Amino acid sequence: MKEFKNKVAVITGAANGIGKELAYESARREMKVVLVDIDETNLKKVEQELSDMGTQVLSITADVTLYENVERVKDETLNKFGQVDLLFNNAGVVVSGPVWEMPTKEWDYITASNIHSVIYGMKAFIPVMMEQGTDCHIVNTASVAGLLSTPGMPAYHMSKFANVGLTEATNHQLRAMNSNIKMSVYCPGFIQTDLHNCDDRRPQRFAIDPDEPYYQSTSYMLGREKARYVIETGIPSDSVGLAVFTAIEEERFYILTHPQYNSVIGKRIKDMLEGIEPDPSMFIR
Ligand SMILES: NC(=O)c1ccc[n+]([C@@H]2O[C@H](COP(=O)([O-])OP(=O)(O)OC[C@H]3O[C@@H](n4cnc5c(N)ncnc54)[C@H](O)[C@@H]3O)[C@@H](O)[C@H]2O)c1
Repeated sequence: MKEFKNKVAVITGAANGIGKELAYESARREMKVVLVDIDETNLKKVEQELSDMGTQVLSITADVTLYENVERVKDETLNKFGQVDLLFNNAGVVVSGPVWEMPTKEWDYITASNIHSVIYGMKAFIPVMMEQGTDCHIVNTASVAGLLSTPGMPAYHMSKFANVGLTEATNHQLRAMNSNIKMSVYCPGFIQTDLHNCDDRRPQRFAIDPDEPYYQSTSYMLGREKARYVIETGIPSDSVGLAVFTAIEEERFYILTHPQYNSVIGKRIKDMLEGIEPDPSMFIR
């Protein structure tokens, strides 16, 4: 996709962080923008900022872990703008802790937030894009945590490895059909966003139960602290929008914005072929 002007971008997780930067870049490229988020307060702020830039904008408060909400996003987008050209399945959360300690609800929460939301976005919008037959593009935000693993956050790695596999396999199917839809998977390293505060925005059905001991445990507290540290010491978010849009223009499938991991990814593949277990110290900052 090379032309963006007057086309329609739908962005989930647009109220904060990476999604907000993608929204600004969409607006700078004179797209019509659909902002989707569970965080209504910050969503309204981004909507106002885009309107002030002269952008045609629609903001939709929605929990993308529920398929009926994603269907509503599709319907409201088509009612307002009549088409969709660029979809960013970007909303996501982080949880950390050992498999044997985390309550099962945490697994439901991260699976719904980081995997089901991406499935639902593709399920709702791919038929619309196919019907249009125009140049379309879908970017799923995974993470370098979908290509490399560390100790500490197996649930997050599970969700992001799933995202990479899901995006690769869907892309194979679309390519086999000679589809008008191109895909990319965005695999950044750490970026300064609000991700470490995602517990403040949990859907009600995944709310933290104060009587559940895990949330007072050292594992939970250390996990939150580690997440805060790596996010706050990540790269500033303001370069993200341009980097992702450049990759879309260049039809790059893997979007990697942290070159310090490139050689580490190469070493991982080499180690795999030799049967060597993953080296956690490889995940250098
Ligand atoms: N920040 C990083 O270092 C980093 C690195 C790699 C990948 N990522 C990924 O980037 C994506 C965006 O995260 P971010 O870092 O910008 O964090 P963020 O918390 O700043 O933004 C995520 C947005 O998603 C929204 N969201 C979460 N659950 C939702 C739901 N159920 N329905 C609707 N909206 C929901 C949040 O309200 C928030 O506005 C995530 O998928 C994350 O895993 C982030």
